[in-house]
Amino acid sequence: MRIAIDGPAAAGKSTVAKMIAKRLGYVYIDTGAMYRALTLAALESNIDVDDEHSLTQLAEEIAITFKNDKDGQEVYINEHDVTKKIRDKDVTNNVSMVAKHQLVREKLVDMQRSLAREGNVVMDGRDIGTFVLPNAELKVFLIASVEERALRRHKENLENGFESDLEQLKEEIRKRDQLDSEREVAPLVKADDAIEIDTTNKSIDDVADTIYSLAQSRK
Ligand code: C5P
Repeated sequence: MRIAIDGPAAAGKSTVAKMIAKRLGYVYIDTGAMYRALTLAALESNIDVDDEHSLTQLAEEIAITFKNDKDGQEVYINEHDVTKKIRDKDVTNNVSMVAKHQLVREKLVDMQRSLAREGNVVMDGRDIGTFVLPNAELKVFLIASVEERALRRHKENLENGFESDLEQLKEEIRKRDQLDSEREVAPLVKADDAIEIDTTNKSIDDVADTIYSLAQSRK
């Protein structure tokens, strides 16, 4: 069984996807983390986010891998743990520019599809239901208002001891959604057969319960 969870930035996809994967004993695959890891590597190598050729070459050269542990998932570039670094502001604000390139996406989508072939998966991203796994048994499209998404991120930042500016977060989320929705290759869009869930006024547990029940009914 393959479960695809797509939606705009900070809609709660990864939190919910992790919970579902744990409950079902499936493997969780965070495709955004792959684009983030490549973006981090590009920034560290001074590769321009518009340089599709060099970005694609970099994607060929580095090994992006995941390790699942009890608290979630660790992300590695070669042997380096970059789990935290890929969430840096710099990476967040550049990742959509890296992810818009066709050749970059081809490379990462190949990796995503081969991971999905290994067994039962919950995969989250932007184009999983429309492009990466168009035949997924269950497709969910999570949305929430920009205000709510920014507020959740804001609280998370403060809880983790990071500085945070709510208005700036709103602006960054809007911009990333716009870039992801308007790009030519595999843009962020709801698949026709995806079930849309608006999480604005719902708890994460309620959303996870809903998806879990949907998954049980499609097994
Ligand atoms: O999910 P997350 O917010 O970590 O994703 C970071 C970025 O990676 C997105 O804003 C988008 O530009 C890109 N992405 C994508 N396709 C995916 C997953 C993420 O283009 N399947």
